[in-house]
Amino acid sequence: MKGVILAGGKGTRLYPLTRVTNKHLLPVYDKPIIYYSIEKLVSAGIDRIMIVTAPEHLDNYVQLLGSGENFISPDTNKQIQIVYGIQNEASGIAYGLYIAREYVGHDNCVLYLGDNIIEDNLTEHIRNFRHGATVFLKKVPDPERFGVATIDKNNSVKEIIEKPKNPKSDLAVVGVYLYDNTVFEKMVGQPASKRGEKEITYINNKYIKEGGLHAVTLEKEWFDIGTFDSLAAATNFMMDKFKNEKK
Ligand code: DAU
Repeated sequence: MKGVILAGGKGTRLYPLTRVTNKHLLPVYDKPIIYYSIEKLVSAGIDRIMIVTAPEHLDNYVQLLGSGENFISPDTNKQIQIVYGIQNEASGIAYGLYIAREYVGHDNCVLYLGDNIIEDNLTEHIRNFRHGATVFLKKVPDPERFGVATIDKNNSVKEIIEKPKNPKSDLAVVGVYLYDNTVFEKMVGQPASKRGEKEITYINNKYIKEGGLHAVTLEKEWFDIGTFDSLAAATNFMMDKFKNEKK
């Protein structure tokens, strides 16, 4: 299973913090945001990762992460391998993943949105994943900011709506997705959404139509770092966690 971390976009909501750097390089307590996604994947046994970013930030990532020498796989006790993909325009999450299609090859993949920090342990879900798609859901007070899952009485996901004005549930779709290799076929002929992006929600709805989408509800803290408040909240959370672990 390969990992694909998206770290593109302009992060304009965080200006001036992101005027000269990429959002995922900003610190959350003692490390850059991007570290949280890499560490989560590595701890789940992923040792091949492509980081997709904008051309103007590629150098920074190479300086920071190199080919992955600071990350050791718990399975092999060896260095993981990080490679890079370039997304010229922030034209959508599905398109960001499409850039990694040759890298993923015939494998399955974990798509991780690099501005997400997830406290739940995803290891078993990642290690046991075989086919279809798995999405992770989280109850939130402000679902209209996210992809929102509508579920039936058996807790199956019926539909996902991207940033609905009137959400039908409070279950947000978290920015980590497990896909089998049919994910790339599902992108063929995909239209851009009203906001001009190739949405990942379109792909997830295709899996739902096939009966191939599995959903797992997360219980612990989840941060989607797109605002000053979420950046500060994640930093405070990690600082408290670090101090409690030292006690
Ligand atoms: O965080 C979870 C949410 O992420 C989901 O609930 C939504 O369904 C999904 O569309 C996405 O919504 P956001 O509005 O949070 O996506 P955003 O544009 O902030 O991008 C998420 C990450 O992906 C961020 O780390 C930047 C990166 N990205 C995004 C786009 C559109 C890229 O690398 N390339 C892109 O083209």
